[in-house]
Amino acid sequence: MALRTILNKSDEALYKKCRPVEKFDERLHTLLDDMKDTLYNADGAGLAAPQVGILRRACVIDVGEGYIELINPQIIKTSGEQKGVEGCLSCPGEWGYVTRPMYVTFKAQDRFGKEYEKSVEGLFARCVLHECDHLDGKVFLDLVTEWVDPKELEEK
Ligand code: NI
Repeated sequence: MALRTILNKSDEALYKKCRPVEKFDERLHTLLDDMKDTLYNADGAGLAAPQVGILRRACVIDVGEGYIELINPQIIKTSGEQKGVEGCLSCPGEWGYVTRPMYVTFKAQDRFGKEYEKSVEGLFARCVLHECDHLDGKVFLDLVTEWVDPKELEEK
């Protein structure tokens, strides 16, 4: 198990556009394994490579519906709308309402470079969009329409 340091929102790496993954090699696999460990260790729902300082288009997600890896993901279609509370491992203690599409279809590659397509909804869709934003240097804070007091969140 190898944990990587999760960068805080003050780090400029979080605001850079990431480059595509081109080599599906041992180095990528180690990165993904470490990101998975780091995600579970932090009890998060998703983690993008730039959050651990790697400016490549890769992220890992587990919202409780199974673990997946998204390499060079592309959003194909979105529909519907959902408003929900969002947070980010790079912004500890900051929670706010973000409105996003309810349904998302995306395509991505797995760790071996094989392309796949997947349709997700609800929290899974929210997480895919949140992580894809990270790959374009965007942090969710800019999308928050209403902030939530973390204490209130615990009570709910
Ligand atoms: Ni995030």
